[in-house]
Amino acid sequence: MDHFLYRDGVLHAEDVPLTDIAAEIGTPFYIYSTATLTRHYGLFTEALEGMPHLVCYALKANSNQAVIKTLGDLGAGMDVVSGGEYARAKAAGVPGDRIVFSGVGKTRAEMEQVLAGGIRQVNVESEPEMELLSRVATDMGVTVPVTVRINPDVDARTHEKIATGKAENKFGIPISRASEVYAMAARLPGLDVVGIDVHIGSQLTDLAPYEAAYEKVADLTRTLRAEGHSIRRLDLGGGLGIPYTRTNEAPPLPLDYGAMVKRVLGGLDVEVEIEPGRLIAGNAGLLVASVIYVKSGEGRDFLILDAAMNDLIRPAMYGAWHDIVPVIEPAPGSEQQPYDIVGPVCESGDTFAKQRQMPRISAGDLVAFRSAGAYGAVMSSEYNSRPLIPEALVKGDQFAVIRPRPSYEDLINRDRVPSWL
Ligand code: LLP
Repeated sequence: MDHFLYRDGVLHAEDVPLTDIAAEIGTPFYIYSTATLTRHYGLFTEALEGMPHLVCYALKANSNQAVIKTLGDLGAGMDVVSGGEYARAKAAGVPGDRIVFSGVGKTRAEMEQVLAGGIRQVNVESEPEMELLSRVATDMGVTVPVTVRINPDVDARTHEKIATGKAENKFGIPISRASEVYAMAARLPGLDVVGIDVHIGSQLTDLAPYEAAYEKVADLTRTLRAEGHSIRRLDLGGGLGIPYTRTNEAPPLPLDYGAMVKRVLGGLDVEVEIEPGRLIAGNAGLLVASVIYVKSGEGRDFLILDAAMNDLIRPAMYGAWHDIVPVIEPAPGSEQQPYDIVGPVCESGDTFAKQRQMPRISAGDLVAFRSAGAYGAVMSSEYNSRPLIPEALVKGDQFAVIRPRPSYEDLINRDRVPSWL
């Protein structure tokens, strides 16, 4: 469920008509709903009620300060994968003891940064990383809580570019070598082994792969405890999928996911952490664009938008499907026709949808991409020298720009021309 509904014939973000926002800040723009962010975070805390837990929002999905602060103020933890994300979480007021540090290639500088600033735990992904972390921690005279990310070798049945739990993926250590790696962790100074970490992929639409992975984690917990390790925390990763269309099968709800977690892991006397990103932010955001031209091609009509692949890369990169709807509500029963919906960038990959059935659209109309709150703005670029588009946040009847549109001057002034040129 989200808070983007037609009211009086106009698509609203909570109580604000999108036409008002477009008139004030121009298109294209991203718009997020506070009520949806809050609701989605709440679904996870409810789902895990009765079990000690921390919901660590994976801020790679949407790392705007206002979004992080909205969730952080509710008590959310954060899952970060870079020094930049850590800095963003801290700047939004999230204390270090609610931040977990994941990622396959943590640098010495990033380790120093999080150890100095405070960290709940580091999820270690390899032996060389573990050795370096031990050295950095001992050099700094601290002990750092760690988990080891294990690769359970399960098929998450999602897009190949976002599956992470198969043996062939770069993530984690093979579960078959866990005992050996945990023994090494226990020997190394500066590390306090607190648990196990697993994340098998993103946009999962089935609980079965999760359950298979978590069964393996439960077995490993028992094994490692028998080997003398104090396993008291399980980081279960993120990845729960969202409905991108309104017709396809509904992905499992957080409540069902939570029930499965409690069933599989509830008897282990552990605290669990989860790292949802997409499910919290995805359907809390829209990308709103204007139609520049309607162009008749060879046997097809193109809607040429002022948004492009640099603003929302998911269709070009993953072949992702986003619902695209007119901001002005079509009359009931109005005729549909197929359009190819494209941006102005100079490559054919800049295509959002092919032969998409839409009501009749004219130049100047506003359209909204649904489910664009996660992996939208964060993956955007300034390709074709198109400045990053603004982001705005709605709460009830108020909205605020939370990242302004840069001017061309801002864009150019980031470059430096050498004195000898
Ligand atoms: N934890 C870890 C260690 C992750 O790598 C990820 C996502 C998450 C949590 C959050 O997963 P989520 O709940 O958002 O599915 N750009 C792609 C998605 C990449 C996901 C990468 N890792 C897309 O647009 O579909």
